[in-house]
Amino acid sequence: MKQFNNAAMNPITVSAPGKLMLFGEHAVVYGHPCIVTAVGQRMFLTVQTLNSKLLTLNSPEVNVTNYSKLLDQLGEGEMPKGARFIEIAVKNFSEKYTVKSGLQITTRSEFASTFGFGSSSASTVCTIKALSELFDLKLSNKEIFDLSYKTVLDVQGKGSGFDVAAAIYGGSLLFFTGGKEITPLTINHLPVIIGYSGIKADTVRLIEKVAEKAEKEPEVVEDIYKRIEQIVEKAKTAIEKSDFEEAGKLMTENQLLLSQLDVSSEKLDAMIQAARDAGAYGAKLSGAGGGDCMIALRNAQGKPAVEKAIERVGGQVIDVETNVEGVRVENKQM
Ligand code: MEV
Repeated sequence: MKQFNNAAMNPITVSAPGKLMLFGEHAVVYGHPCIVTAVGQRMFLTVQTLNSKLLTLNSPEVNVTNYSKLLDQLGEGEMPKGARFIEIAVKNFSEKYTVKSGLQITTRSEFASTFGFGSSSASTVCTIKALSELFDLKLSNKEIFDLSYKTVLDVQGKGSGFDVAAAIYGGSLLFFTGGKEITPLTINHLPVIIGYSGIKADTVRLIEKVAEKAEKEPEVVEDIYKRIEQIVEKAKTAIEKSDFEEAGKLMTENQLLLSQLDVSSEKLDAMIQAARDAGAYGAKLSGAGGGDCMIALRNAQGKPAVEKAIERVGGQVIDVETNVEGVRVENKQM
């Protein structure tokens, strides 16, 4: 097994994008495909070795300042919420590759963690990628995925890993749970409009809520998942052909099925309806539901009217690029 000592190494800075679920949420947790795109708000992370036995972490955006833990006690005792994913990522990496030197990690985030753009998975991916670079391991994307996904499951217990895949591979992906299949889509552009509901979604609780429904009505829920899968397949073709009218229609159909799973909310429904009334090709919630964001499709010409309509019902329009590059080493340090 490869071991690393206190060799002085140059700091490494990496960055990874956030994600936006386009089609297939919830069903993806149960073996069906989803479509996700990487968004242009990035997490930056710098790591360097320390002459100590400590992990030291500074993540100002989540109120973590000079947090430190002995390397052989990672994952034990108190962990501030904002430190969990990075601490467990370092633990998983060191268990696999036996890191002996102390580490100092600093993060800088371009995105508010409240939007549900996947800041936790982006920081997990950044940690594994940065350590792989620091120790010159040249881990493949799939190896980075497996360690990062294990970290996400260790911390939150649930999830398909689609957010981890978006942070690593970037672009837009057809994704199956646990990374069983990760297929990049050929997309030129995606005229998506994003509205934030102002409410933070509790992903784990919503996954549990759907699981409870599936326990009570297994056939109904399985039928919904199957129909979502058909929508995902059609949506893949539509967005690869830039047929956004068709993709929009499929969004609205997907939303109907998400409503039947009871994961939408009044606020999301109002924003989705407003977008459609203002001429969007279609709209749906994006992610776990209950809050976070909704998305709508409309060409550039019709975009302002849809944005205004979303704002009129209390949504916040978020302007971000989609289909952006995945995790990368940054030349400059933060
Ligand atoms: C949450 O953003 C999307 C879910 O499908 C959960 C997951 O895939 O990890 C509900």
